[in-house]
Amino acid sequence: MSSEPHETAEAPPLTEEIAPGTASDPPVGGDGPATVTVDGTEVSVGADATLIDAIEGVETEESVPALCHYGREDIGPRSECRTCMVETDAHGVVPACSFPAEDGLTVRTDAGAASEARDVNLDLVLSDHNLRCTTCGKNGRCELQDAAIEQEVEEPRYGVLDDRGEYEPLDDTSSFIQIDRNKCILCNRCVDACNDVQVEGVLRMEGSGQDTRIGFQSDVDTMEDSTCVSCGHCATVCPTGSLVEKGIEDATTIPLPGFNQKNSVGTAYESSGKSKGPMTPKKREKRATTDPSPSDDATETGVWDDDGASGGDWP
Ligand code: SF4
Ligand code: SF4
Ligand code: FES
Repeated sequence: MSSEPHETAEAPPLTEEIAPGTASDPPVGGDGPATVTVDGTEVSVGADATLIDAIEGVETEESVPALCHYGREDIGPRSECRTCMVETDAHGVVPACSFPAEDGLTVRTDAGAASEARDVNLDLVLSDHNLRCTTCGKNGRCELQDAAIEQEVEEPRYGVLDDRGEYEPLDDTSSFIQIDRNKCILCNRCVDACNDVQVEGVLRMEGSGQDTRIGFQSDVDTMEDSTCVSCGHCATVCPTGSLVEKGIEDATTIPLPGFNQKNSVGTAYESSGKSKGPMTPKKREKRATTDPSPSDDATETGVWDDDGASGGDWP
């Protein structure tokens, strides 16, 4: 009596059928340790470092958001969002997240062309987002919100998602993670986390152009029907409120100085025809040093202006 030959072939890698994330990303980073000058300050970085590593090591003239870069584990950079543009003496304006730190390079975060590129690209990112911060579970811990505040966004030139009348219902089917695709900026961090760090192969990017969205590799429609194991890594790395842990998805009352229902709701110039004021709170200017009152805390810089009269109408 014969029997089936014992299977000796090596098992395929677990990720063979999983759509690639960082596994297919080209390597980035320099050839060896480097010293670069960022806004006049020399900083040394190790082998494989990129310009964002150097920038994070110094106090820069302007903030560099880097929304599709995570900086830990095997997540990104994807060079998708281009909110991290900086100017170099040798190569012009480049994305800091993925440009190798070359020894001797001089970097400026406050060069006009780089600053303008970051502004334009942040507005492009905002055009994929509904900017409803006060009803978002990531309010107060959102990287996109931080970037919009730091860059003092007043009227995103390409509008926001709500202006286009596009709305996709929430995927609230999972008991662990809520998906709000109206806030997704397509940074790909969650796909990398799910496929390349957790090696679960649940998430993928699907569609193209305006129809690009987060979907499931198993071709199902909802998180509940997917093969998700509820590890939560995708929500941890998501820079916006698109993936939020259940239980805090309606945490609408986190007090964020300066934000109110008017100035954090997307009502953009393009659709309304006229400006209705800033969409994000602005920092007050330092009060004139001639003000003698030592107890007045408004003399500090970085105090948020909580002017309820500014901002668009609550729809
Ligand atoms: S929670 Fe689910 S979808 Fe998110 S990383 Fe873990 S397995 Fe993937
Ligand atoms: S769900 Fe979040 S992490 Fe995933 S692509 Fe959208 S914004 Fe990025
Ligand atoms: S962080 Fe550099 S392109 Fe997105």
